[in-house]
Amino acid sequence: MSGAASHPTLAVSGITVRFAGLTALDDVSFEVEPGTVHALIGPNGAGKSTMFNVLSGVYRPVAGSVSFGGVELVGLPPHAIAGLGVARTFQNIALFPAATVEENLMLGRHHLTRAGFIGAGLRLPFAIREDRRHRARVTEIAEFLGIGGLLQLPAGDLSYGDQKRVEMARALCVEPAILLLDEPVAGMDAAETGQVATAIRDIREGLGISILLVEHDMGLVMGIADRVTVLDFGRRIADGAPARVRSDPEVIRAYLGTGHNGAAAPAATPPSASSPPPVPSPADASPAWAWNENEEPPS
Ligand SMILES: Nc1ncnc2c1ncn2[C@@H]1O[C@H](COP(=O)(O)OP(=O)(O)OP(=O)(O)O)[C@@H](O)[C@H]1O
Ligand SMILES: [Mg+2]
Repeated sequence: MSGAASHPTLAVSGITVRFAGLTALDDVSFEVEPGTVHALIGPNGAGKSTMFNVLSGVYRPVAGSVSFGGVELVGLPPHAIAGLGVARTFQNIALFPAATVEENLMLGRHHLTRAGFIGAGLRLPFAIREDRRHRARVTEIAEFLGIGGLLQLPAGDLSYGDQKRVEMARALCVEPAILLLDEPVAGMDAAETGQVATAIRDIREGLGISILLVEHDMGLVMGIADRVTVLDFGRRIADGAPARVRSDPEVIRAYLGTGHNGAAAPAATPPSASSPPPVPSPADASPAWAWNENEEPPS
């Protein structure tokens, strides 16, 4: 696939989100540099998906700004933000199960079509040419992610791992400058995780697209992220290179589940089909989140 040259910086500054009495994000700032993989991590309920909802225009923060190449995103509706090249996937799969993979991917290109509903419905020559061009691009993107052979199958018939890859492909069909991936390997086995890791690297290196990655799989995060921001209870507790963040005492404390006063951390958000296992209590010998120093990152 051909790639774009350089993309804008995403600058998140002082973002605060409240739900009734709960502060889900508290004055959070970080920057995603162009062409990098930036991980946003933290225990269950830390505010990661809430941040994605702010970045994609689903939630409006009570304070703060999100600048993408100098354009303010706060206050813009989701379709306008997508039009600026910000594409996302969802933590819970959000495909149309009865539609084919190809149809799901074509929806990602809707904002790029010019023929419109009537032109397409009347099968005008221009509309037919445009449709053909978009289908060719959809095929190219599907092959790039290794799902080219699944295009004519109903999305709902695919395995969980394949559906997650279709979601990534649909986000790529937007032709984004930045891709927001919310737990792209949750529920995948090691082989599928390795494929997604390769795809993320290829997207960054082949297309120059920046990636903001929310993920609980620390092997993946530490293997591919250029920079890591850590949230806990809505606050940013660390930000920096993976090697520095992984040894930060406050990060280790947050993940081990002892609150800031030594109290047990509150229960995580209710588990859903796509949620990872809950973070274990400190009594567990080997927390699920823990990275293994000797473990090879997925290739
Ligand atoms: N629409 C909402 N209304 C009320 N509270 C919400 C809403 N969305 C999120 N929250 C709360 O905000 C906090 C942050 O939730 P969020 O989903 O952003 O966490 P997360 O870091 O993505 O967690 P996980 O790793 O479990 O996906 C949680 O306490 C959650 O219950
Ligand atoms: Mg989440």
